[in-house]
Amino acid sequence: MTNPEFAQDLAWVRTHMPKLQHALQDLPSLAGVRLACSVHLEIKMIPLFEGLLARGAALFLTTCNPTTVRDDTVAWLRQQGADTEAWHGMTDDEYAAALEHALAWQPTHLLEMGADLSTALHKRGGPTTVRASLEGTGSGISRWQQLPLRYPVFNYDDLPIKEGLHNRHMVGLTTWQAFFERTRLSLHGKRVLVIGFGSVGRGVADAARAFGGAVFIAERDPARALEAAYAGWHVLPLSEALPLADVVVTATGAGQVLTAAHWPLLRAGAFLLNVGHRADEIELESLRAFPHETVLPFVEAFAVDGRMIYLFAGGSMANLTAGKGDSLNSFDLTVALLAAGTGHLVSAGASAAPGIHLLPRAVWEPYLS
Ligand SMILES: NC(=O)c1ccc[n+]([C@@H]2O[C@H](COP(=O)([O-])OP(=O)(O)OC[C@H]3O[C@@H](n4cnc5c(N)ncnc54)[C@H](O)[C@@H]3O)[C@@H](O)[C@H]2O)c1
Repeated sequence: MTNPEFAQDLAWVRTHMPKLQHALQDLPSLAGVRLACSVHLEIKMIPLFEGLLARGAALFLTTCNPTTVRDDTVAWLRQQGADTEAWHGMTDDEYAAALEHALAWQPTHLLEMGADLSTALHKRGGPTTVRASLEGTGSGISRWQQLPLRYPVFNYDDLPIKEGLHNRHMVGLTTWQAFFERTRLSLHGKRVLVIGFGSVGRGVADAARAFGGAVFIAERDPARALEAAYAGWHVLPLSEALPLADVVVTATGAGQVLTAAHWPLLRAGAFLLNVGHRADEIELESLRAFPHETVLPFVEAFAVDGRMIYLFAGGSMANLTAGKGDSLNSFDLTVALLAAGTGHLVSAGASAAPGIHLLPRAVWEPYLS
């Protein structure tokens, strides 16, 4: 039986997604489409998947990040007819098996956040049934650039309505919402270091300043560092910035940004957060070698050479692991984009050449208002 709170929440989510409903109505029949999805599986995705099922698509749902899976969402979608293989906290081996099973299911199309399915598919080689993929993360696009592409991939991460809205405005807001709610701390009187000045880092920095933090930036690309300086941010090399920071946020899309070499530089009481796609921006193995315990849900304390350091949300995406992610009104546009993008994969996009293509404006523009 469905939990009444979940049912109430789902009804509320559905009510606030008019753009998605518009995009779903415009979809062609999806009969014969086998869509394998490696995406965040939480309640805001349900109306999209319900709509795709109603159009006749077969769905195989797995995650792109085991820490963001909500088991009630997966159970609900299984009841609606999707094949699912995802649960909160699945191990790396279990996740790798789920990707293999998704590929063995013989998908015709992929919906991805992070390119894990396509990376597994290209690693295993051999013939593929996949005709096209839709990718929505900067991390995924970077991985795509390393793959010998066998089908067209439509990038919606770099669209002004994804990067410029969700990445730029939503991640910062919702990261700090989650941090405040979970820790009962605010940023007043705190020095906040944001590592990485892409659209996500900018948004995190803007929101931190708006919430009272004194913010500075570490950025390894000198051109981006200069952009940050022109925007008025105090920019410092990472090794100089770390000893000053009360709260450190990684927002890079790169692995191993904070490692064992950095732990001695941290101030007592410093918080470490990650908002990048993967939980590998903060290197956890060396951190976990120090005595540690969970002191609050989503907060672990580490005794590092006599100083207490706090890790938020296990170094996984702070806003989605410890919080609820985007506002419904903003996410409505993101899922409308996913619905319209799926329509493109199975229509005009099907004849595109293998390679990375920006999702054309004509596909998403009708859903802006
Ligand atoms: N949490 C969320 O909900 C959410 C939403 C959207 C995107 N993301 C993820 O956030 C990450 C960043 O996205 P983006 O669009 O801003 O990417 P981006 O590539 O535009 O920006 C990342 C920046 O980090 C810098 N960088 C990389 N390694 C660094 C290092 N070691 N030290 C300092 N700077 C470094 C790069 O030079 C670049 O300027 C990606 O992993 C993306 O998938 C998360």
